[in-house]
Amino acid sequence: MKLKAYRLTPDAHPYLIERLRTLYNSAIQFLATHPIELRSREAQAAWWNSTDHDKVTVHLYSPVDNPWEIAAFSMVTDRGSFVTPMFAIAKNYWGKGYGEEIILHYLALAGGKPLRGEQLISNGAICHLNEKLGWQVLMEKEGTQFLFHPNIRQQEVYDEIVRYNDEGSTY
Ligand SMILES: CC(C)(COP(=O)(O)OP(=O)(O)OC[C@H]1O[C@@H](n2cnc3c(N)ncnc32)[C@H](O)[C@@H]1OP(=O)(O)O)[C@@H](O)C(=O)NCCC(=O)NCCS
Repeated sequence: MKLKAYRLTPDAHPYLIERLRTLYNSAIQFLATHPIELRSREAQAAWWNSTDHDKVTVHLYSPVDNPWEIAAFSMVTDRGSFVTPMFAIAKNYWGKGYGEEIILHYLALAGGKPLRGEQLISNGAICHLNEKLGWQVLMEKEGTQFLFHPNIRQQEVYDEIVRYNDEGSTY
């Protein structure tokens, strides 16, 4: 495991909600969700206060080898029969395997439910990771691909990969 996940509670410190905002704002150009706008500090706080915390799960992530930093966030929304995820990593932490770990984490958080997602075709890294981790492209429109993930046996695969990473195996 390269990251430690911290779940944000409804009464999370405003500093953490603000860090979530800066991570989100810095990733907007790479996200496929439209329309999307830069969030102000005030809008962010209002959004957090009005969020249904039974349905929306937000985590911040710190590198295990640098626990003082917050490098990424994920947000998982339960929409009944399916789940939608979103996440972003601060640019100075790209290319370290965090993306893969966060995707495996949110698949586990989905609790066995299938997922719906979107990706920008121009975002090569996310297209590569999503395909590698089981996302399927359903359709394509104006530079965005609409995705489905069946999320079968994901918990077992997640546990296996965590064990694999911990043991430093080389198969
Ligand atoms: C996309 C993003 C999540 C990738 O995270 P990351 O930590 O850099 O990803 P990882 O290091 O786990 O893996 C990157 C993989 O993509 C590959 N890759 C990188 N750039 C690529 C490109 N342009 N085309 C194809 N593959 C690419 C790497 O070779 C690596 O492959 P591997 O796992 O098979 O070795 C990160 O760049 C990010 O947060 N971007 C902004 C927000 C975003 O796109 N969020 C996701 C949409 S919800």
